[in-house]
Amino acid sequence: MVKVLFVCLGNICRSPLAEGLFRHRALEAGLDEGLSGAFLADSAGTGSWHVGNPPDIRSVAVARKYGIDISAQRGRQIEPTDFTTFDYILAMDRDNLSTLQAQCPPEHQEKVSLLLSHAPDTMLTEVPDPYFFRDDAGFERIFSVIGEGVDGLLARLKSDHFS
Ligand code: 4NP
Repeated sequence: MVKVLFVCLGNICRSPLAEGLFRHRALEAGLDEGLSGAFLADSAGTGSWHVGNPPDIRSVAVARKYGIDISAQRGRQIEPTDFTTFDYILAMDRDNLSTLQAQCPPEHQEKVSLLLSHAPDTMLTEVPDPYFFRDDAGFERIFSVIGEGVDGLLARLKSDHFS
């Protein structure tokens, strides 16, 4: 089983969308999640402000618009065991990446990467922090960018693990 962890700052805006999108697209591609499944997807924040909280309503809304329900997710903070449990740890931006690299044991550093490094044709290299966006258009934009990252990651996982 391939275990994938998406990480942002608060675990309420970007990484819940990445988790939901990954699960949705992987299931569409015929991969099953769960104990006996092909993959496990989760998300976490580098910060602790939103531990136990549901995702931001703007993330829930944009996901719902595209048929993905992320409302049952709850925020949690990255913990040391994540670096052994997960095979791929995907940071939304360079700040998250640096935080993860500083906490990650040397033998697991290669697990940590920027999500958008798996979508090299995307104009952006980081998923912008949408927390202070004033309108929903920004959430549409990050939904689309995260989708590109997730698709690129899935293509890699399919060729490396599921072909
Ligand atoms: P996220 O967005 O990292 O995409 O979940 C944020 C959510 C909350 C905060 C910052 C970013 N905050 O400062 O509380």
